[in-house]
Amino acid sequence: MAHTHDGIDWTTRLAPMRRADEIEAEVNSWVADRLVDLLPPGATVVDVGSGSGGMAAALTAALAARGGGRIVLVDAVPELQAAAAERCAAVTGNKVEVLAVLADAADEALAEQVPTADLVWASAVVHHLPDERRGVAGLIRLLRAGGWFALAEGGLNTKCLPWDLGVGEPGLQERLIAAGREWFADMRAGMDGVVRMPVGWNRALAEAGLVDVSAFSYLVDLPAPASETVRLSVADWLGWMSNVDGDRLSESDRAAVARLLDPNGPDWVVARDDVFVLSAATVHLGRAT
Ligand SMILES: C[S@@+](CC[C@H](N)C(=O)[O-])C[C@H]1O[C@@H](n2cnc3c(N)ncnc32)[C@H](O)[C@@H]1O
Repeated sequence: MAHTHDGIDWTTRLAPMRRADEIEAEVNSWVADRLVDLLPPGATVVDVGSGSGGMAAALTAALAARGGGRIVLVDAVPELQAAAAERCAAVTGNKVEVLAVLADAADEALAEQVPTADLVWASAVVHHLPDERRGVAGLIRLLRAGGWFALAEGGLNTKCLPWDLGVGEPGLQERLIAAGREWFADMRAGMDGVVRMPVGWNRALAEAGLVDVSAFSYLVDLPAPASETVRLSVADWLGWMSNVDGDRLSESDRAAVARLLDPNGPDWVVARDDVFVLSAATVHLGRAT
């Protein structure tokens, strides 16, 4: 039975993840084109931890634009995987085969369940595995010789709020991010069989046997005044951070967040024209020998 290791109820994340897919569609398409340009015609791309399918759809569209291929969606959560498959099916143009494999990304036998890949894309999933280096090694085993591993991890935290919102004390975003870092450390420490990875991702990829290791970063830059979807996505971010930060926040910050998230109150964050989304993501790349 496929399962995750992080104790997160991913099904509740579907709506916010879909919204993130929508606001990141343009940049996802740019990243997907850049990666698929590295591949031979008719390539097989495996998206591990495909979530609600924003990047999988972008990869599918990139494959379709180059004549076709195959996209394989690997996730441990059936509801998310179904959403991702639906998104991909909408953009295949009958040129790209969509395959869904319900599996734990840390499963040592994953390579037996997934077709050999020309590209493995793994975004924001390896840090949910107890042993990240072992996880990376397992994902690399999915590649044919010469195939590419693209790991999206790290970058810069999302910024989306003015420093002084006029609601609660100034600097709320910084405190939410700081508490979020503590949550992240606790989330990792709480996993069964957790193993520290005391090196950067470039070293993890090189130690796992990949060559031509490099990285690039990209911005998600959606400045104010932003569309309603972007503003709703700011509310998603606040909701997630207040949920995971919970007791780590002061009473005053919790009260401020509650006011910002109240759609019937005067301080609803979605009604503000001065919120935005600015974040950076890093893609670590390496090639199998
Ligand atoms: C943070 S989301 C990332 C989604 C998407 N890749 C992105 O970057 O937006 C993590 C995804 O990995 C999946 N996931 C978490 N642990 C997993 C595991 N052990 N095996 C397979 N999928 C897992 C979750 O269900 C979710 O879809």
